[in-house]
Amino acid sequence: MYRTHNCGELRTSDINQTVTLTGWVQKSRDKGFVTWVDLRDRYGITQLIFDADRTNKNLMESAKKLGREFVIQVNGTVIERASKNSNIPTGDIEILVSDLTILNSSKLPPFTIEDETDGGEELRMKYRYLDIRRNSVKNNLIFRHKVTQEVRAYLSLKDFIEVETPYLIKSTPEGARDFVVPSRMNEGQFYALPQSPQTFKQLLMVGGMDKYFQIVKCFRDEDLRADRQPEFTQIDCEMAFVEQEDILETFEGLTKHLLKVINGVEINSFPRLTYDEAMKIYGNDKPDIRFDMKFGELNAVTQHKEFKVFNNSELVVGIAVPGGNNYSRKDIDNLIDWVKRPQIGASGMVYVRCNEDGSYKSSVDKFFDQDDFAKWAKLTSAKEGDLICILSGKKNEVRAQLSALRMELAERLNLRDPKEFAPLWITDFPLLEWDSEAKCYHAMHHPFTAPKSNQIALLDTNPASVKANAYDLVLNGNEIGGGSIRIHDKNTQALMLKHLGFSEDEAKEQFGFLMNAFEYGAPPHGGIAFGLDRLVAILGGQETIRDFIAFPKNNSGRDVMIDAPAPIDKEQLDELGLKTK
Ligand code: AMO
Repeated sequence: MYRTHNCGELRTSDINQTVTLTGWVQKSRDKGFVTWVDLRDRYGITQLIFDADRTNKNLMESAKKLGREFVIQVNGTVIERASKNSNIPTGDIEILVSDLTILNSSKLPPFTIEDETDGGEELRMKYRYLDIRRNSVKNNLIFRHKVTQEVRAYLSLKDFIEVETPYLIKSTPEGARDFVVPSRMNEGQFYALPQSPQTFKQLLMVGGMDKYFQIVKCFRDEDLRADRQPEFTQIDCEMAFVEQEDILETFEGLTKHLLKVINGVEINSFPRLTYDEAMKIYGNDKPDIRFDMKFGELNAVTQHKEFKVFNNSELVVGIAVPGGNNYSRKDIDNLIDWVKRPQIGASGMVYVRCNEDGSYKSSVDKFFDQDDFAKWAKLTSAKEGDLICILSGKKNEVRAQLSALRMELAERLNLRDPKEFAPLWITDFPLLEWDSEAKCYHAMHHPFTAPKSNQIALLDTNPASVKANAYDLVLNGNEIGGGSIRIHDKNTQALMLKHLGFSEDEAKEQFGFLMNAFEYGAPPHGGIAFGLDRLVAILGGQETIRDFIAFPKNNSGRDVMIDAPAPIDKEQLDELGLKTK
């Protein structure tokens, strides 16, 4: 038997017991006549003591030679510590070692494997297996396991069946590029890795599975960010014989359950906003509603004077920054520079200080009077002591700019408390979105999403105005899930594909299998997929999903530990019928 106990469980009640422990040497302190060693495993740290009075000479010598991260096994007796450490659960005891076996030695690790490490991100990624020994990464993985277990238990209890779907498939359009895999047996042909199991889960509904879920890897070749990885995990779900309301209720139930058991937070019911409302109030379809700063549209009260910047703008819109009147001139200039950065792209910013005495002072005093400012304050809900920030320009652009400013200010004002949870549903997304580069419409969600039934005729006359039975679940300003009610008849699906610019042949070639299936009694159905990595990160109070993935890719899509992607042999290329440049 390698061990009788782990390194996190011994207490004063175990004093005088003979125990065997195994683990890694976190560090050792050699005081000549006494050597202490911190022994670490997944469960914690236990202190070992070797002292000249009670330990034989050979053992003392071996203890002094132990290096960081050596893997050892010790026999010994649990004794009370002379100086206790209240920071760790085992801090009242230590092990007086009688036997020491070195199970494996270790090179000096490239960074210290402690909570406060000296290793930079890239180095820790390269030696991810060492980083996983650190509490922060280890605890995130354990946290992810807990969330996953809860999801499986909850959905299984609600009669969902977990079904695996294939990874070597044909393209599923979710808006990103595919990762492709060449087929040796079918030279010149390729599989695509699934961007999601979308079409398969719909086929499972045709197959009568009724309630499906899968915790599943998805692959998307897209630009990476803190909340995006090229391979990520979805909690993918689909239900038959449901309307939008059934889906929202079921998955609000799952989310509430997770918030309760994982975070101890109870939320009655999630607010809902339509896409149009969210864009108008927050300039964003994934608003963070932990704080206010709602948009006030100001066209009606700003375009009656000689101020050309406002008069020539499609939208003039402002937010009130709580307590912002405290900002110095320099702070405000700094904000103006911030919105003018190319990443944000505003041409400038107008501001109004709301003084404590009820008067206003603004950057446009030349053009507007106190009555005007009072109206602006009302529309942005600004109070005395606030600062109103106003942007103007083209509607979509200015909304995106002000939304970015709102998030930046919330960050600076510490309004984004990671321990607070504010979920909401966004509904009624547009069915289509105009791609100005390709000069055609794309499905905003995916091509299988059903339009609102009373709006199908509008597809011919005003496609941009058609709304979909599509919804997103947003948590703390992050899109953690999205789904829709699906088209389940062949004709509507064919019509939709036509509007997306597919010829009949292309539609048949790419989605013939689905349209055929729709001819054999497809039930009405719909579903949703959660981004598991995002969900876990946010429930864990963070936003970088990499920290919750055991072996993530870096921002260039590389695994720096195994050094992938990498070239392959000429032989392998030949076998696959592929040529290099
Ligand atoms: P969608 O494309 O909205 O919908 O994806 C669902 C959820 O997956 C997460 N997500 C990602 N997480 C990490 N890295 C990525 N690159 C990434 N891309 C997406 C997001 C998102 O909300 N088949 C549909 C679902 C459906 O209609 O049922 C789909 O995949 O949290």
